[in-house]
Amino acid sequence: MVRNLGVLVATFCFLLGFAVGDWNILNHKRKNGLQISLKNYCEAWRMNVELHNIKDFKVVPEECVEYIKKYMTSTQYTIDSERTIDESRVYISTSCTFKKDGKDAWIFDIDDTLVSTVPYYKKNGVWGEKLNLTSLEEWMKKGKATALDHTLKLFNELKAQGVQIFLVSSRRETLRSATVDNLVDVGYFGWTSLFLRNSENENKNVQQYKAGVRQDLINKGYQVWGVVGDQWSSIEGIPSAIRTFKLPNPLYYVA
Ligand SMILES: *[C@@H]1O[C@H](CO)[C@@H](O)[C@H](O)[C@H]1NC(C)=O
Repeated sequence: MVRNLGVLVATFCFLLGFAVGDWNILNHKRKNGLQISLKNYCEAWRMNVELHNIKDFKVVPEECVEYIKKYMTSTQYTIDSERTIDESRVYISTSCTFKKDGKDAWIFDIDDTLVSTVPYYKKNGVWGEKLNLTSLEEWMKKGKATALDHTLKLFNELKAQGVQIFLVSSRRETLRSATVDNLVDVGYFGWTSLFLRNSENENKNVQQYKAGVRQDLINKGYQVWGVVGDQWSSIEGIPSAIRTFKLPNPLYYVA
């Protein structure tokens, strides 16, 4: 009996090693008869990142790096993002009764919300790698981030309605002028305030820092109608905006 158990455990470990070492093993029939492809597996990973069931990932799982790279440069990513923005438009037109008193506010993230960091990943080929802040900031200083056109349209529509736009980013204060130049260069201008990480808020995590900004705005009498961001740390936390809109981003996680 004990010996049989030993054999069983050994067999299991062997199969487990095989499963981890070689993806193809999972192409074989599973217990319930379902065939699972790598695409199925990676799509489920991506979906659960967006659902915020998967948190704090440091890197994209190695076997899904190609899949995520493909997604981030695909029409699907654009369509998914456009849908997010369209839903915020539905909310604005049906539920936002702007007071037009200069206190209607909307918050946007910057990276992968207003502008894309995909050119950085493309240029440096770092899709599956842990974020290197030094190299990312070097890239940000060059001001080569491209506009995400769907968000740019919404930004301009809100501006036209007299809504005060606040940009709240986890970029550091040292990047302020490069960030402003980059944003203006790709078509963003006329925001009310740009919040960046500085010595006063660097001891807070990103979620606390961003919630703190919302608190300050509310204290100043602003009605924060909505937030558009690509990270959960941009939209979770108290006080909340009335509605939040999460853009897709399976590339990296900011806690
Ligand atoms: C991060 O990027 C910098 C600047 O490009 C580079 O010098 C450094 O070696 C990188 N660090 C790691 C751990 O790759």
